[in-house]
Amino acid sequence: MTQAVTVKGVSKTFATKSGEVRALDDVDLVVEEGEFVSLIGPSGCGKSTLMRLIADLDAPSGGTIEVFGKPAARARKDQDYGIAFQQAGLLPWRTVAGNISLPLELHGLGKGERRARVAELAELVGLTDFADRHPDQLSGGMQQRVAIARSLAERPRLLLMDEPFGALDEMTRERMQTELSRIAAETGAAVVFVTHSIPEAVFLSDRVVVMSPRPGRITDVLETGFGADAVRDEALREAPAFFACVTAVREALHGTPVAHGGRESR
Ligand SMILES: Nc1ncnc2c1ncn2[C@@H]1O[C@H](COP(=O)(O)OP(=O)(O)OP(=O)(O)O)[C@@H](O)[C@H]1O
Ligand SMILES: [Mg+2]
Repeated sequence: MTQAVTVKGVSKTFATKSGEVRALDDVDLVVEEGEFVSLIGPSGCGKSTLMRLIADLDAPSGGTIEVFGKPAARARKDQDYGIAFQQAGLLPWRTVAGNISLPLELHGLGKGERRARVAELAELVGLTDFADRHPDQLSGGMQQRVAIARSLAERPRLLLMDEPFGALDEMTRERMQTELSRIAAETGAAVVFVTHSIPEAVFLSDRVVVMSPRPGRITDVLETGFGADAVRDEALREAPAFFACVTAVREALHGTPVAHGGRESR
C-alpha cells in the first residue's frame, strides 16, 4: 500500500530575535493511504508546524517528508492534497461560491461542471443560501465551512486539516464531523487532522497521535480500533468503546500510563 504521508526524523527550529525555538524534534509519522490520523497535544507543541511542513508551506530543519512517495514540494505542485487550516484564508473579494470554486478554476474545470460542483459543496456545508455573500458578511464558523468546502472541491486523496472545526458551535461541529468521516470513507481520502478536542479526535480517527510540549515529539500513538468500516454515527458517540478510548487519549496526554488494547509503540 502506498503511504499518503511519510515523515522521517523531522525537526524544525525557528530563529527568532530572542534565540532559537525548537518546535519539532525527531518526529516520525506514517499515514497510510485512506487512513484518518489525528494530532493532539498542548498549545505550542508544533502541530501546525508539522502540518505546514507536510503541505510544503515551510521546510524542515532536518529529516525528510514525502507525500504519496514524492517530495513534499512535488506533491504541492501536483495539488495532491486539500488544505483547511486554523485561519480560513478566504479571498475577501470573492463570494462564497467564488472561493469554493477557486481550486476547480485552477485545474481548468469547465464552467458548467464547476457550477454544479460548487452547488453540491455549498449544500454539503450548509451555505447554499450564502453562496453570493462575501467572507466579511459571514461568521467565523461560516467562513471556516467555506474553507472546508474548498478543501474538498477536488476530492483530494489527502486532506490536511488544522483545527478546521474550532470556530463552530457544538451542533454544527458534530454534524461536520459526521460529514467529514462519511466523505473520507466515500472518497478513500487519507486525513491528517489537528484538534484540541479528545472526543473529536477519537470519533474521527483510526489512530490518534499524542504530542508532548515543546520541543514537539510524538509520545503516544493510540489506535481507536473501531474498524475501517465502522459507521461513525450517534451510536458510536455513546458506545463504551468510545469512552474507553477517550479516557486512554486523555491519560496519554497527561502522561499517565494506561493499559489500552490499541496502544502501540510506533
Ligand atoms: N514562524 C515562526 N517563527 C518563530 N516561531 C514559530 C513560528 N511558527 C511557530 N513558531 C513556534 O513554534 C512552536 C510551535 O508552534 P505551532 O503553531 O506549531 O503550535 P501548535 O501545536 O499548532 O499550537 P496551537 O495548538 O496553539 O495551534 C511555538 O512555540 C511557536 O511559537
Ligand atoms: Mg496550531
